[in-house]
Amino acid sequence: MSATRSSYAVKSNPNPEILRRIASITGHLDASSFFEVVRAMEAGLPPERISYSGPGKRDSELERFVGCGGELVVEALDEIETVAAIAEGKGTRQRILLRINPDSIPKGFGASMSKKPSQFGVDEGQAAQVIARIQSLPSLDLTGFHIYAGSNCVQADAIIDNITNMARLFAESASVSGKPVRKLIFGAGFGLPYHDGQEALDVAAVRAGIAPALAEIASNPLLADAQKVLEIGRWIVGPCGALITSCLSRKESRGLQVAVCDAGFNTHLAACGMMGSVFQKNWPIFRLGPSERETEEYLLAGPLCTSIDTLARRITLPPLHKGDRIAVLMSGAYGLTASPDGFISHPAAREYLWTGAELQDITTTRRAEADAMLPGRE
Ligand SMILES: Cc1ncc(COP(=O)(O)O)c(C=O)c1O
Repeated sequence: MSATRSSYAVKSNPNPEILRRIASITGHLDASSFFEVVRAMEAGLPPERISYSGPGKRDSELERFVGCGGELVVEALDEIETVAAIAEGKGTRQRILLRINPDSIPKGFGASMSKKPSQFGVDEGQAAQVIARIQSLPSLDLTGFHIYAGSNCVQADAIIDNITNMARLFAESASVSGKPVRKLIFGAGFGLPYHDGQEALDVAAVRAGIAPALAEIASNPLLADAQKVLEIGRWIVGPCGALITSCLSRKESRGLQVAVCDAGFNTHLAACGMMGSVFQKNWPIFRLGPSERETEEYLLAGPLCTSIDTLARRITLPPLHKGDRIAVLMSGAYGLTASPDGFISHPAAREYLWTGAELQDITTTRRAEADAMLPGRE
């Protein structure tokens, strides 16, 4: 019976303290830069439990990774040639997974990477040719396939169709390779209910709905022994975090209350509607403190000198005053490290972990280490 496990996408929240805790639960991490690979190792995982994906890997990163024992998710033919040459030069055989970009994805995903020209993976129609090329390179060991084609979906039926389509593509790719597959990574795209009117993803319905696809995999001699990995980020860590910001100033402008906060898109790009959203929709936002019956409608602005820096538009909150604290929930994923925190040089945000007993300061300033890790970059 083949194993199934989940893998946590480090990019969704790479804080070392968070990673250490999540790694001990999932036992598998997906990194998307060499620095994230190192963080994954520091979180206590052996290289065999780390995959390294992403469309833009520098040669210097590949040099460091090849032969370390981890699995590389390759996304383009020229990357494959580079990895093969590095592995040959090191006298090693590098385990790789081929990332395939499907021709279609169901409606319901917040951002989709399929159907259009894309930097992610090789197009479904190119997969057979690329598999043949990989198999002709003795320094590469094709262990399996990877698909991640859409993110942030809260509709169980769309997730089920997407995973069923992945299973079809995995079966086709296995039959092209003609070899038993050892690993299949399903980039799940499990989403979160960030906005009013959205409901949490019905995971039990997903489990029931994908059962036929998993049964097909189990009955396919080339796939039956493959480890199946569900790769997820935000669904694990998003609900656990909140951005806490303070009201710096409050005034009325043209009939609307305006509160300026000390955090904007420099700290939380996604809540400001700038991470893949077509229209900005308000996130779950609350004023901290005693509840009040009285409410007002607010424009919640960030501190940056641009009109696009808005945390929420026409949001109903209890009266706000200078110094009041405001919480943006669902903010544990794609927060600080997914935001341009250098813009206008406001003080860096701090990160805290509530352990159940104490509030631990887990702020990390280790960005400089990432730069130092790959010396000699132009
Ligand atoms: C390859 C890959 N895997 C996993 C994820 C995690 O996505 P999410 O946080 O939406 O689960 C991403 C996000 O961009 C990704 O690119």
